[in-house]
Order: sequence, then structure tokens, then C-alpha cells
Amino acid sequence: MSLQAARNQSAPSPAGAPADSSKALYGGKSTRRISVHDIAAATGRGEKWPMLTAYDAMTASVFDEAGIPVMLVGDSMGNCHLGYETTVPVTMDEIAILSAAVVRGTRRALIVADLPFGAYQEGPVQALRNATRLIKESGVGAVKLEGGERSHEQIKLLVDAGIPVMAHIGLTPQSVNAMGYRVQGRGEEAAQQMLRDAKAVQDAGAFAVVLELVPAELAAEVTRTLHIPTVGIGAGPDTDAQVLVYTDMVGLTGGKVPRFTKQYANLRQVLGDAAKEFAEEVVGGAFPAAEHTFH
Ligand code: KIV
Repeated sequence: MSLQAARNQSAPSPAGAPADSSKALYGGKSTRRISVHDIAAATGRGEKWPMLTAYDAMTASVFDEAGIPVMLVGDSMGNCHLGYETTVPVTMDEIAILSAAVVRGTRRALIVADLPFGAYQEGPVQALRNATRLIKESGVGAVKLEGGERSHEQIKLLVDAGIPVMAHIGLTPQSVNAMGYRVQGRGEEAAQQMLRDAKAVQDAGAFAVVLELVPAELAAEVTRTLHIPTVGIGAGPDTDAQVLVYTDMVGLTGGKVPRFTKQYANLRQVLGDAAKEFAEEVVGGAFPAAEHTFH
């Protein structure tokens, strides 16, 4: 039976859990490192799964302990961790160092590292050189790169070399200077191109594909069309997985956040309040107290 047929035939419980929940990517019993085969099996069982970005060992360890099965060391580190305006300036060195930290902070999650802008656009050989570095030096289990048909050759060479690839289509933030930040795939022609891009990355051997800022109906059609899992961000409820940028998800991001994100905590408030309380205790002499002092 094809994976697509299995996904369509599987009947998740009303709560969305797979029949044998001990195998589940989220909430399952296995403690070994998750592989791309586990991802394919989960999609075959009709199981939805969560993915979060992570950029440092400590935060990654929290998400690992919470059971998040897949973490992305995204080039969103540009805006969310390194203080750049966009993802465009992020370098291979930055991705390599932070990816290694995330790998060190985790035991179970599959760690996927982004190939940053300029690390694969020259062609398949450049993509292979940089992806190999992330696999060997940082220890990640897979890489991600942007583009559909235009990245077909890069994905194919990496997969042929034994490097699992997650593709990324729809809004591709590395192209922000040409594309802007707007919903992709609206209108018949753009929708057909999105379907061609999705099939191209699947044919090239990608194990999953991120759909960013895509109308929900089109994301659902792409998901029905492909046998590899789709990972949505701003792509509605019908993709196989959902990814959020963790700083948006925990309320750390300052200013405006995209409408598709959901804030599950307000860490900006928590950190700010803690910093103010510490400062007030230092100024007022309440910190350090006797229990924090050596004689
Ligand atoms: O870099 C990133 O965080 C991403 C996600 C938005 C999928 O590519």
C-alpha cells in the first residue's frame, strides 16, 4: 500500500491520536533519536505532529523534554536570535554553531538545519558541500532548503548522497527582497505552480515539505496530492504537521507577530518582570541575602 493510501485509510481516534499511541512521534514511548523513517511511518498512520524552531541548547532541551519530535534550526534565527532584520544575512558559520548547540541539547528530536541564503543557490555541488558540513560538523539529522522546481537538482544530489532533505515552498523568506511577505499560491496559475513545486521536491526525494503562507484549501490539495508529509505554517489545519517559530509561540518576539502564529505563553513579560525585580532588589539592597552569601 502506498503511503498516500495508508494516510487516507488510517482512522485516527476522535482525539487525533493514532491507534497504537506508543509509537506516536509526539507522546510515544521511544526515547531513541527520531529518524526520517519514523516521520514517514507517522504520516502513514495518519498522525499529525508538531515542529518548533530552536536556536540554543537550553531551549532545545526544554522542547525535547516536552516531547517535540522535530526541531528546526531555522534561518529565522536571523530575526529571532541574532538581531538581523531578515533571514538573508544569516551565514553558514552561524547555522553550524547553533545547530551543534541544539543537537547537544537534545536526545530524541530529529534536528533539521536550514541551509541559509547563498549556501545552495550556486548549484548542487555547493549545496552538497554545505549540507555535508551541517551533517558532519553539527550532527544534524537533516537539512532544509527553500524552493520547489528551482531546487530540484540540489535536493536530488543531497538525497543521492544520503542526506535527508526537508523542502520549503510557498513563502520563502530568503527571497523576501523579490517576493515580499504575502500569501502565496492565490489564483489558478500560482496554485498550479505550487502543485508543480510540491511534486518536484517530492520527486527529487525530499522527506517532507514546509508550506508557508499558503491558502488552506491549496495546502490541503498539496497534502492530498503528495505522499510525503506537509508541514504547515500559515497554511491552515489540513497539513500533516505544523511548525511555529518558537519565539512567537512563547511570546518572546517584540512588536507585531504574523496572524498565523499563536502565543501560548508570555515570556517577554515573565523575563521583563524578573529583570525588574532583580534590579529593584539590587538597588534596594535585598539581593544578595544571607543565603546567597559566603563567609
Ligand atoms: O527558518 C524558519 O524558522 C523556517 C520556518 C518558518 C519553517 O523556515
